[in-house]
Amino acid sequence: MTVTIARQGEIATVTVDNPPVNALSAALRQGLWDAVETLDADGSVAAVVLVCAGRTFIAGADVTEFGKPPVPPHLPDLVDRIEAAAKPWVAAIHGSALGGGLEVAMGCRFRVAAQGASLGLPEVSLGIVPGASGTVRTPRLVGVPAAVELVTSGRPLRAAQAAEAGLVDAVIQGDLLEGAVAFARHALTRPLPQPTSARPVAAPDPAFWAEQEKAVAKAAKGAAAPLRALACLRKAAEASFAEAMAFERETFLELRSSEQAAALRHVFFAERAAPRPAALRHVEPLPLRRAAVVGGGTMGAGIAAALRDAGLPVVLVERDDEAVARGTANLRGIFDGAVRRGKLTQAQAADRLAGVTGTTDYAQLADVDLVIEAVFEEIGVKRAVFDRLAQVCRPDAVLATNTSYLDPRAIAGGLPGPERFIGLHFFSPANVMKLLEIVPVPETSERTLATGFALARLLKKIPVRAGICEGFIGNRILKRYRAAAEALVRQGVAIAEIDAAMRGHGFAMGPFEAQDLGGLDIAFLQREGARAAGQAVPETLGDILVRAGRKGQKTGGGWYDYAPGERRPQPSALVAALLAGAITPGAAMDREAIAAHLVAEMAAEGQAILDEGVTQTPADIDLVEIHGYGFPRWRGGPMFATGIRG
Ligand code: 3HC
Ligand code: NAI
Repeated sequence: MTVTIARQGEIATVTVDNPPVNALSAALRQGLWDAVETLDADGSVAAVVLVCAGRTFIAGADVTEFGKPPVPPHLPDLVDRIEAAAKPWVAAIHGSALGGGLEVAMGCRFRVAAQGASLGLPEVSLGIVPGASGTVRTPRLVGVPAAVELVTSGRPLRAAQAAEAGLVDAVIQGDLLEGAVAFARHALTRPLPQPTSARPVAAPDPAFWAEQEKAVAKAAKGAAAPLRALACLRKAAEASFAEAMAFERETFLELRSSEQAAALRHVFFAERAAPRPAALRHVEPLPLRRAAVVGGGTMGAGIAAALRDAGLPVVLVERDDEAVARGTANLRGIFDGAVRRGKLTQAQAADRLAGVTGTTDYAQLADVDLVIEAVFEEIGVKRAVFDRLAQVCRPDAVLATNTSYLDPRAIAGGLPGPERFIGLHFFSPANVMKLLEIVPVPETSERTLATGFALARLLKKIPVRAGICEGFIGNRILKRYRAAAEALVRQGVAIAEIDAAMRGHGFAMGPFEAQDLGGLDIAFLQREGARAAGQAVPETLGDILVRAGRKGQKTGGGWYDYAPGERRPQPSALVAALLAGAITPGAAMDREAIAAHLVAEMAAEGQAILDEGVTQTPADIDLVEIHGYGFPRWRGGPMFATGIRG
């Protein structure tokens, strides 16, 4: 770590260099403190520009210090010290100014930002509130409503938005340091603005807070930090600066040692470890310039959209012209939806679509670097596709299958050059869901595997390596979870109680309403397939419903009834009658016990997966559940939540 001071005439520059992200370790806090002292004592300095080396401005407090006792100088004191400096400080921001980094910047008299910079207070995503005046200084710069959005959502602002909101004073075009020094010189010619802490804050009325509390609680789905952050903001609006600072500090320290914060830190580090497995650090992936998808259905269209979002040209292969038209229409639907939600402009959507070549002609695949197969889940169909791919693709092109349940070894069997084959299991909708299970076969080369991980980085997905077993990691745990939920129903626990228990636990949906949404028939057909192949698969309650024509919302009913055109599940007398013979009435279980039991079942399956070597770390299982199946992030995943932490 270094903090160096240089001079450009009467302007001093303080450069922070603490790779990789200039996190505010105890040593850096001390270094900055010393710099303030040194520059205050230097009569020839008129103003100070604070700038960072490397890829980013200060990205926040050092998260690795959070499990340990706080060491002075404490961050709030450092921010106050910078604000009280005898000379005005100008924060020159590039990359990200996050959390404590933004708080340091708010202690400076001015903030300027490079065009691509982002500024935010992501503390709630770590289960804490800003702990160095973020809830107290932010409303003084941007007003209470904008501060509520920044602090309770954790979402950062781009430089231009930050300037509009009043969080930065100028966006610098061209060289940041040069621009910041020029800004400082100009600022010295005018009366200085008040320090942030001395600025007034307009307090909204109680109705505003009541409304915000409702909205924040709804979005938090059980996470504690957002509501606590809102309480800090209210204090900042209604009490003195000092009182609000004391309240924020107390809240910060309490939350920092909470179970939720520990869980969210676990997820933070797991997400950063996942994309770069140590075993592949020195393996060069294949460059990805052009990709292809075979099959333009639900998954193929989503995967093609994800590839286009990452800027790759895509060839989309379908079995006949009609299917090409359907696949293209599926893609158009995805991009149109993004336009409707304000995520893409019309022009961007048109460009995304223009980069897709729909075809039935495999010759178009002669020069692609990667092909992802997403055709019907039938071994014969998939084998035929890979036979064609082997004939037309470059011998080094990576060939991937998106199969959910088939054995990738059976799909790859007999393929010339099996070292380039791999399973890449996306989740629906593939352009939205963050999870990517990466499933090598024994022949898969390190380079192919590294390319799978490189693809995940390109698509901004969380990759988890999985060994071969039925359903890989996620669908295997899902099967156990559903079976355990059905077992409770057989014991007499009400279907709606189980769903309510899981929602109460932080899931967006319970297991039965989720099946009604996705359709009960997919898992049913899979079980029927296994039965046809001679496996002894016991009859499930879901089978009884599907045989009675109840496949979920799309047939007007599954585990629940649905009024025409409505998505609200209604307990069904017909289901009760259909299942009566399989249920022993009477068992009562409170919701907490239901959720604890079902999470324990997930973790038990996770443990079996670990024991079999399907995955190496419990953290990977947690990532699968959080990013593929809606497990509440703030609980850290089923393994962390049940104490299995490796
Ligand atoms: N503390 C410690 N280590 C951190 C860190 C932090 N705040 N932020 C990132 N790192 C580490 C990562 O673990 C990773 O380590 P590794 O190389 O050993 O795996 C390395 O820095 C690089 O991180 P990324 O892979 O995430 O790098 P990117 O370039 O993709 O992203 C970033 C950079 C946008 C800054 C991203 O790292 C990020 O969002 N960091 C978290 C920022 C954050 O949450 N700050 C708030 C902290 S809480 C706080 O400040 C409390 C205060 O209010 C008192
Ligand atoms: P789908 O039925 O929506 O789409 C399959 C597409 O493949 C159809 O458009 C069909 O015309 C096309 N196709 C069939 N044979 C072809 C051939 N020989 N050549 C070119 N195209 C052909 O199916 P879906 O849901 O997209 O599933 C595809 C694959 O993805 C399956 O292996 C499935 O198990 C897997 N998967 C599905 C998920 C889901 O949630 N639907 C999630 C993850 C994986």
